[in-house]
Amino acid sequence: MTTPSSNGSAKAAPERRETFSSRKLFILSAIGSAVGLGNIWRFPYVAYENGGGAFLIPYLVALLCAGIPLLFLDYSVGHRGRGSAPLAYRRLSRAAEPLGWWQVLICFIIAIYYAAIIAWAAMYAWFSITKAWGDDAGKFFGDYLKTAPEAGVSFDFVSGVFFPMLAVWIIAIVIMVAGVNKGISRANAIFLPLLVVMFVILVIQAVLLPGAMEGLNAFFTPNWEALQNPGVWAAAFGHIFFSLSVAFGIMVTYSSYLKRKTDLTGSGMVVAFANSGFEILAGIGVFAALGFMAAASGQAVSEVAGGGIGLAFIAFPTIVSNAPFGAVLGVLFFGSLVFAGLTSLVSILEVIVAAFQDKLGWSRKSATLIVTIPVAVISMLLFPTTTGLYLLDTSDAFVNQFGILACALVTVIVLSAGLTALPKLQKHLNRTSSIKMGTKWRILVGGIAPVALGYMLINEIQTKSAEPYEGYPIWFNGIFGWGMAGALIVGAVLLSLIPWSDKSKLKDPEYDEFEAALAAEDAVEELKS
Ligand code: ALA
Repeated sequence: MTTPSSNGSAKAAPERRETFSSRKLFILSAIGSAVGLGNIWRFPYVAYENGGGAFLIPYLVALLCAGIPLLFLDYSVGHRGRGSAPLAYRRLSRAAEPLGWWQVLICFIIAIYYAAIIAWAAMYAWFSITKAWGDDAGKFFGDYLKTAPEAGVSFDFVSGVFFPMLAVWIIAIVIMVAGVNKGISRANAIFLPLLVVMFVILVIQAVLLPGAMEGLNAFFTPNWEALQNPGVWAAAFGHIFFSLSVAFGIMVTYSSYLKRKTDLTGSGMVVAFANSGFEILAGIGVFAALGFMAAASGQAVSEVAGGGIGLAFIAFPTIVSNAPFGAVLGVLFFGSLVFAGLTSLVSILEVIVAAFQDKLGWSRKSATLIVTIPVAVISMLLFPTTTGLYLLDTSDAFVNQFGILACALVTVIVLSAGLTALPKLQKHLNRTSSIKMGTKWRILVGGIAPVALGYMLINEIQTKSAEPYEGYPIWFNGIFGWGMAGALIVGAVLLSLIPWSDKSKLKDPEYDEFEAALAAEDAVEELKS
């Protein structure tokens, strides 16, 4: 694109940065990103496995002490830096650019397995109509995924997963190509209300089932001993970051599309509480349904719950088979997973697309196609296979409890101790926000968060190295767990070494103007005081 510069000569300038056309659309998109598979598929089983009702304590501590403060940190970095994660960090300091790429690569890993779960959910919404799993949902799940008997390298193709994944990728890419306003905002404006309506009906239907109270008791009854286990705290922190879309570039990127004068902290509060509200609602809906299942089969809730991934794809189908209007319950549950997943998937992809668009000066369309098609191909080569389930389980565990936690820890240390950037970012948050951040915010981000994250990370490393994750072969965890997590760091450094193109956003006059305006505002304020 060529634009006239102030001295009248023609000068190459990057494409103008899009902004969300209203704060409402930003909030909608940020909630759409936050409310995802993490809320419906992940939260109920993580909470249940980590102390049930007692998990709500580390969950709330993680939300208030790290989730929300780091959400504001992401907003301040993105909104002030007006760029994708690598650009926004680079604008704070050249040395901070790898942090941005680390976040981009975390998004790459999440995106490739996330699309697979959305595809399973879409198929399960369809299977719900005929209750295709018969009376053995566990066996059906294994047969559907054609899962190999043990984790290993058997990448045989599974067409029943491949085709829905292809559809998911096509929908996501079409949304992404249309851009921030015509694509992402619009998709959120359609999918999010639909999701809320479907989910509320689902929860009402679930709590009215006979035996629902038993499930809710199991979910909310605290196992206080669990609180002594550092792994439970790591699970809470890891889950909060994943669920709020914090510390892996999404909120940095989305807030960079906000207009200059925006209430950042007020918007953040709305997003954080909407996300947690939805999450707890999901726990209530899922456990009410499990209570019904337990009562119907004369078993304890713990016996029907099943752990991990199986909670959504094994226990829930069994409920669908037995509950009155089960097909409706199934379509609502799996349909909710699809809509919630799609709005989060586009936010995860946006982190990757925006990063390359900024660094290499590509147009929106080119960046989207050049970036998302290879990501989709890798995703469709790895996950619709007989090893797909093991790969997904390992990547999810390592990228969340190791990757995101480690990245969050390094980010807070670099920003607080390395660059002493917190006062500048605090000032930025307070410029136009309704809820002002004081010293407490700096203490939480620069003091409490690093100590808590550091402690949990050390514990995570010890636990995961003492016993192979899920008993998978050491080489398997080595390559797809530890190897993947380490490769993200090496990759981040390498990507940060690629030179910024001449058309990159690093040389953007629009940003220079923005920075000059901020400096002028600060100077006026200083004079006044
Ligand atoms: N925040 C998204 C989720 O919860 C990634 O699934």
